[in-house]
Amino acid sequence: MGTDAATEATDLDELRRAAGHCTACDLYRHATRTVFGEGPSDAQLMLIGEQPGDREDEEGRPFVGPAGRLLDRALEQAGIRRADVYLTNVVKHFAFEQRGARRIHRAPRAAEIRACRPWLDAELRVVRPDVLGLLGATAAQALLGRSFRITEHRGEVLEWEGYELVPTVHPSAVLRTPREQRHEAFDALVRDLTVLAGRVR
Ligand code: URA
Repeated sequence: MGTDAATEATDLDELRRAAGHCTACDLYRHATRTVFGEGPSDAQLMLIGEQPGDREDEEGRPFVGPAGRLLDRALEQAGIRRADVYLTNVVKHFAFEQRGARRIHRAPRAAEIRACRPWLDAELRVVRPDVLGLLGATAAQALLGRSFRITEHRGEVLEWEGYELVPTVHPSAVLRTPREQRHEAFDALVRDLTVLAGRVR
């Protein structure tokens, strides 16, 4: 099943159900399930990540693994309640390479991001948030173009297709930062999220 339902469905439940059968790219063959976005259908803030990881693939919910836990802490420090946010990803199946018993995350391919795009567009159409937070280069480049550099624009309030948006790093980039600088990297993420919080009306 492709993504036709993305343009037809009028609410999130319908979209989530339809996306659960999506075969628009090959990722569905190896992933356990579609991990659709979650959060209030009238959320003012939408956060967009890259793709579900191993944990998300198992649980069927976005941002519930290590990066999600770090994001939860950063949101709290920025004064944002996770329950108020619509959280989603540009790609809704886990992309990985199998190495022995382990599934190692791999970046989604351009064709996979393209194939999945109608679901993100549908989430935007239904939720109509005021502000978008783009977590990491994959999300930022999916919306703003391949030449967009997070390092040059993180924490800035930009405009895109009638939305205000703020790009920042992906929480997993904070997790990958060497221990001595991790605190600083976390604080910088909180600062960017605080900018986002300030744009919510
Ligand atoms: N990383 C993401 O980009 N999204 C998730 O849902 C989990 C980890």
